[in-house]
Amino acid sequence: MTRKFIISRAHFPCRSPFIIEAVRYTGPMRILSGIQPSGTLHLGNYFGMMKPAIELQERGEAFYFIADLHALTTVRDPQMLAAHCRDVALDFLACGLDPAKSRFFRQSSIPGVTELAWILSVLTPMGLLERCHSYKDKTAKGIAPTHGLFAYPVLMAADILIYESDVVPVGRDQKQHLEVTRDLVIKFNEAYGEVLKMPSPHIQDSTAIVPGLDGAKMSKSYGNAIGIFEEEKALKKKIMGIQTDSTPIADPKPVENSPILGLYRLVATPKDVALMEEQFRSGGVGYGDFKKRLFEAVWTFFAPFRERRAALAADPAFVESVLKSSAEKANALAEKTLAKVRAAVGLR
Ligand code: TRP
Repeated sequence: MTRKFIISRAHFPCRSPFIIEAVRYTGPMRILSGIQPSGTLHLGNYFGMMKPAIELQERGEAFYFIADLHALTTVRDPQMLAAHCRDVALDFLACGLDPAKSRFFRQSSIPGVTELAWILSVLTPMGLLERCHSYKDKTAKGIAPTHGLFAYPVLMAADILIYESDVVPVGRDQKQHLEVTRDLVIKFNEAYGEVLKMPSPHIQDSTAIVPGLDGAKMSKSYGNAIGIFEEEKALKKKIMGIQTDSTPIADPKPVENSPILGLYRLVATPKDVALMEEQFRSGGVGYGDFKKRLFEAVWTFFAPFRERRAALAADPAFVESVLKSSAEKANALAEKTLAKVRAAVGLR
């Protein structure tokens, strides 16, 4: 028997009207997300995408993948790409992705994705992609303006639609790409009938923006990131180096936009956060002291993850077996959707 139910706002407490729209689905909710293996993962990746994705794996059937095809748009060194893929697999498993509950695989293990991307691309208006911020941002930073980079959102749409995903947990920076996906579902279904399933983004407002060392959004490309698995010395150096204003120790310090407090709120207990906020307001404690406490809190927060990562790194065969068996399951699902799509457009 299939169960029909509606996800209500209570299940997904988000503020944006784009996100709270109810999703109707049959059977267990299918959750999907991808992460790019473009370098060491940082706190922005963890709190923006990985943590919500890991929490969601309790609530349905989760499919998480390493977006190696997407990474090819920016990573040109084959050894580096392979190393990044290995690292991201270890990082995600160490952070709590549970292979007993979730599928976890490489994007490139699913050949149907690129075929679906092509079929979608013939329906994709140039204007839709021309409006995407991420292409403009990346080319402005000097990344080669290739067709792959431009068509990035179409490949992403194929990732999402091939598994008939219901919910897609992503960081706020991916919201526009999800909108492209939804537009493409409408275009395809208008042209060929109700074949593709409409997905919903899932963005956690409270943690979607993680401040970097300079107070701007944490991003690898801004050089303000703190790695999840940073060495102790390097972590301390980064945190102690956070730029602060010249308020004297005795005076109250501005609470708004402080990267120290912004980061501390993510990793410290509510009681410790309240104490630090109070001391910012009252004065009498210096920034150096606050930074030491921030360092301790970050280091402690990720301690169990570090242990798990070391154990996983010692067992590469296990990691490979997870990726392989998950890919087989994902492939079976992808082929089913692709068969419907091929039939709908008139291929065989
Ligand atoms: N573009 C995403 C990012 O950089 C990664 C990604 C690729 C993805 N395909 C996806 C995320 C499909 C969600 C769904 O973060």
